[in-house]
Amino acid sequence: RIAYVNGQYRDMRDASVNIEDRGYQFSDGVYEVCEIRGGKVVDMPRHLTRLQRSLRELRIDMPMPLAALEIVIHETVRRNRVSYGIVYLQVTRGVARRDHAFPVNPVKPALVVTARGLNLQKNQDTAAKGIGVITVPENRWPRVDIKSVSLLPNVLAKQQARENSAYEAWFVDHNGHVTEGSSSNAWIVTTDGKVITRSVDSGILAGITRAVLMEVLAALQIKLEERPFTPAEAYEAAEAFVTASSQIVMPVVRIDGRNIGDGKPGSISMRLREEFHRFSA
Ligand code: PDD
Repeated sequence: RIAYVNGQYRDMRDASVNIEDRGYQFSDGVYEVCEIRGGKVVDMPRHLTRLQRSLRELRIDMPMPLAALEIVIHETVRRNRVSYGIVYLQVTRGVARRDHAFPVNPVKPALVVTARGLNLQKNQDTAAKGIGVITVPENRWPRVDIKSVSLLPNVLAKQQARENSAYEAWFVDHNGHVTEGSSSNAWIVTTDGKVITRSVDSGILAGITRAVLMEVLAALQIKLEERPFTPAEAYEAAEAFVTASSQIVMPVVRIDGRNIGDGKPGSISMRLREEFHRFSA
């Protein structure tokens, strides 16, 4: 596998970053994950717009002009010959002697891009069975709108899910509402066919898959309500699913050990999953 690291394409085994990179010492950086389908990067413009926003919020410079970044992403995908999988890009503030405040003399942001193939059949099999979710108390910082590489609460939540034979953990805020998953947005479908997800005003990352799915819903004339929901409402929902670039629409069939609907992936969830790529760019 080949990685792009600060200006060079390197074999992953030889690719490395400086031990004083601020991403390593302070999680002082941001990232993006895009799906690769048919060798093409899905919804790249939206991902790059979000990357720019994350960087702006943290006052980190773009590592290179947008057009150049697009070329690096395409080239990394091409060199790894990925047809289906994900591309990962990470930008950190750069390398400086350890000091919490920004470097006094500006440093160049560090850029890493990797791509890896995933097993599409395995993903389809997981979707056909549906996944289990657990709920955990929200313990992340309030700026989850920034796609920061600082992911410890997400790491611990995902591990807890795994140890409970679940695939994802949904954070529940102090009002008792689900915010989002540790690496996905959370959705339910009511028994009267309305699709519910929290608005991007607070507590969640503005998912790209989420945004595209809203266009799918509009086109299919499925009613959408952007509002918070509780785990109790989710237990009684007809369907539930999560969205993320790495899995698009993934049906949820169990929450905190309770079956959702008949315990099988819902028809609306599966329809949305099938229709998604007609609407993504
Ligand atoms: N995660 N919420 C969180 C906390 C996420 O980490 C992600 C994505 C999403 C969904 O966003 P999008 O649809 O733009 O992928 C929501 C990526 C895939 C990851 O960390 O691997």
